Amino acid sequence: MRFTVAIDGPAAAGKGTISRVLARRFGFAHLDTGLLYRAVGKRVMGGDDPLVAARSLTAADLAAPGLRDPEVAQAASRVAVIPEVRAALVDFQRAFARTEGGAVLDGRDIGTVICPGAEVKLFVTASAEVRARRRYDEDMAAGHALSYDDVLAEVRARDDRDTNRADAPLRPAEDAVIVDTSQMSVDEAVAEAVRLVEARL
Ligand code: CDP
Repeated sequence: MRFTVAIDGPAAAGKGTISRVLARRFGFAHLDTGLLYRAVGKRVMGGDDPLVAARSLTAADLAAPGLRDPEVAQAASRVAVIPEVRAALVDFQRAFARTEGGAVLDGRDIGTVICPGAEVKLFVTASAEVRARRRYDEDMAAGHALSYDDVLAEVRARDDRDTNRADAPLRPAEDAVIVDTSQMSVDEAVAEAVRLVEARL
C-alpha cells in the first residue's frame, strides 16, 4: 500500500507533533524533511560547501548533536534558498514518500513540489506569536538561552526567507486543507488530521 501524507507549514506550527501521531497511529514511516536542511546547514557552519554537503549527507549528519539549535535553524533556511541544494534532496524525499505501508513527510514544499500527488495534504499554521511561544517553551526545555523576543525574531526571519525565496517557497498547495492551530489545542489539531487521513484511506 502506498499512501502519502504531506504536512507543510511555517516554523514551529506543530507539523512535527501531528506527523508523529499520524505515523504511530497508522503505521506510516515519518520523515522530518527540515532535518535534511538542518543537517546541510550544520555542515556549512562547519565550513563545508552547501552543495557538496547536500550531495553527500550521511546518516551520521542526520543524527548530529545540536540540529535543533536556533542557529542551525537559521543556517538551514539560508541553504534552503539554493536551488541546487533543494534539487539534491528531492530523490531521497520522493523515494521515502513511496515507502510501502504509507509515509508522512513534513516540511515546507511537500504538497507543492516533492509530492504534488499526495493523498492527504495539510498546511498547518498559527500566528507568529503563538508559534514563537511554543518554540520558546521547547527551547527552554532543551536548555537554550534565547528570550521570547529573540525566538519571535528568529521565527519571523525564517518565515520571511522561506516565503519569499524563488524556488519552492512556503505556501499551501491549492488542494491542501489549512489547519490554523492558533486557537486549537494540539489534540484538536491531531484529531482533524486523523479524520482527514481516515477519510482517504
Ligand atoms: O522545526 P521548524 O518548523 O522550526 O523548522 P524545520 O522544519 O526543521 O526547517 C528548518 C528550515 O529548513 C526551514 O526554515 C526551511 O528554510 C528549511 N526547509 C525547507 O526549505 N523545506 C523543507 N521541506 C523543510 C525545511
